Amino acid sequence: MKTLVLYYSQTRKTASVAETISQELSADTVEIKDLKERSGFFNSLKSTIDAFRENKTKINPENVDLSDYGLIYIGTPTWGGKPAPAIITLIDRCNFQGKDVILFTTMGGKGGNTTIKRMKEKLEARGARIVNFFIIRTGGKEIIEIKEDTRKIIEELDLKIYEYT
Ligand SMILES: Cc1cc2nc3c(=O)[nH]c(=O)nc-3n(C[C@H](O)[C@H](O)[C@H](O)COP(=O)(O)O)c2cc1C
Repeated sequence: MKTLVLYYSQTRKTASVAETISQELSADTVEIKDLKERSGFFNSLKSTIDAFRENKTKINPENVDLSDYGLIYIGTPTWGGKPAPAIITLIDRCNFQGKDVILFTTMGGKGGNTTIKRMKEKLEARGARIVNFFIIRTGGKEIIEIKEDTRKIIEELDLKIYEYT
C-alpha cells in the first residue's frame, strides 16, 4: 500500500506543504482544482461564504481512486475557519473505509483548528481513521519558510512512522 497526498491550493501555500511531504515521504500527489472563478475581492468574499456554508463546487479530477493507498494526507487552506469547498466536495465523493488519514491546513493566522475538526468529522463518518494532523501558519511567510516549517513538523510529529511503502 502506498501513501497519497491529496490537496487543494489557491495560492500555492498548501501546495508547497504537499510537495514537501511528497518529497520527504516518497508519496504520490493529486492536486484537486476548483473550476469556479475564485480570484479577486468579490470572489474571495463569495469563497468564504461558500466555505462557511459548505457549498459544493465543480472540481477536477471529479473523483480519486484510493484503492492503492493505505495512508492519505489531505490538505486544504483555511477559508473562514472551514476547509475549502474543493476539499469538502472531494471528501464527500470518496470511500475512506479502512484508510489512515493525516490532515493538514494552512492559514493566515486563525481558524485552523475548526478546519481540522470539520474535516475529521466528515472523514470519520466516511470510515477513515485520523492518525494525526497539523496546522501551518502562512501569514507573512515566503514559500521557502513554509517548506522549512513543513520539514520541522515532519520531524516533530515523527510522520515517517506512518509511512506505507
Ligand atoms: C477565501 C479565503 C478565506 C480565508 N479565510 C481565512 C481564515 O478564516 N483564517 C485564516 O487564518 N486565513 C484565511 N485565509 C488565508 C489562507 O488560509 C492562507 O493564505 C492559506 O495559506 C492559503 O493557502 P493556499 O495558498 O494553498 O491557497 C483565507 C484566504 C482566502 C482566499
